[in-house]
Amino acid sequence: MNFYCSKCNHEESVHTRIAKCECGGLWKLQYDAPKFDLDKVHKDKWGLLRYREWIPVDKKALGKVSLGEGMTPVIHLDEDVMLKMDYFMPTMSFKDRGAAVLMAHAKSIGVESVVQDSSGNAGNSIAAYSAKAGIECEIFVPEGTSPKKIDMILSHGAKVNVVPGSRDKCADACRRKAEEEEIYYASHVFNPFFYQGTKTYIYEVYEQLERIPENLFVPLGNGTLFIGVMIGLEELLESGTIEKMPNIYAVQGENCAPFAETVKSGEKEIRHIIPKETMAEGIAIGAPMRGNEILEYIYKYDIKVITAPEDGILPARDKLAKKGIYIEHTTAATYAAYLKLVEQEGRIPDSLIPMCGAGLKSDH
Ligand SMILES: Cc1ncc(COP(=O)(O)O)c(C=O)c1O
Ligand SMILES: [Zn+2]
Repeated sequence: MNFYCSKCNHEESVHTRIAKCECGGLWKLQYDAPKFDLDKVHKDKWGLLRYREWIPVDKKALGKVSLGEGMTPVIHLDEDVMLKMDYFMPTMSFKDRGAAVLMAHAKSIGVESVVQDSSGNAGNSIAAYSAKAGIECEIFVPEGTSPKKIDMILSHGAKVNVVPGSRDKCADACRRKAEEEEIYYASHVFNPFFYQGTKTYIYEVYEQLERIPENLFVPLGNGTLFIGVMIGLEELLESGTIEKMPNIYAVQGENCAPFAETVKSGEKEIRHIIPKETMAEGIAIGAPMRGNEILEYIYKYDIKVITAPEDGILPARDKLAKKGIYIEHTTAATYAAYLKLVEQEGRIPDSLIPMCGAGLKSDH
């Protein structure tokens, strides 16, 4: 199994420590998953190992690194909406799905030290799974990151670097360090193994409901859940498990919506923007590195890109809290976008919305 470059198709072993192709293109994974089959799910496992037949990573390493991530419930919010409770996770966000697989891969190829940049949740995850794997870890976070997230990262024994300026500047600083000091870049965006973890979101939904709901809402910043969802759905389609793609709504914050702007003008190349301040910090990505790859999915499957109104985030968070669900602002943004769409277009029955991050992580 190799990586191949998304720009020039150059192939490289997955054992490489180099974060991207010489031409600048990001790696993709050359992997044809076996046919999905509920009978092959390992029902005695309660973490991602349950789906080990379809996760191309060393099973022993995954077993050692796993913290019991995944297996999050789907609950009914009301007549039309189901929520997948993906903050019921070891570090309280869906990123644990990706971090478990990525750090298992890093462990299996003998990596001893990693760097990573994150607005918080992915940093929490990589720090925790590095700790479990016995790998040294340094996380770069942008200024303004919730102190609670920083405390969590530190608690796992990782080093934290707070970088002044935007989320994109923080990523630049981290990548510079990875390149200059030749440290493994455990990036949830660059490393294709991360998406092999987030795709289990879809496997679980299918196993839990024995179908995929008609309308899936998915937050979209760098696309770590979005790409995982697309890989998972394509695998289910290819194996004949489902017959058609559901309707997919990709959600951006209105103050940082490069995909919404690009799609509006029908362009095929992602337009980078400077994000305005937003409470949806987790998806405030002005220059998504896999932008063109994500646009391909958007055009191929007629995915709607919708935006969350900034002034709808707190009311949406409050509305969910009043039903016992306490989530962070970025997660409330997905629900706020759903509510706005319902206001514009009427009821959207059979909708599934991910509850990606826990409320205790944000400050306001
Ligand atoms: C709470 C939350 N929701 C959703 C996302 C998804 O964002 P992305 O598309 O950048 O992976 C993130 C990423 O940090 C997040 O922290
Ligand atoms: Zn290349």
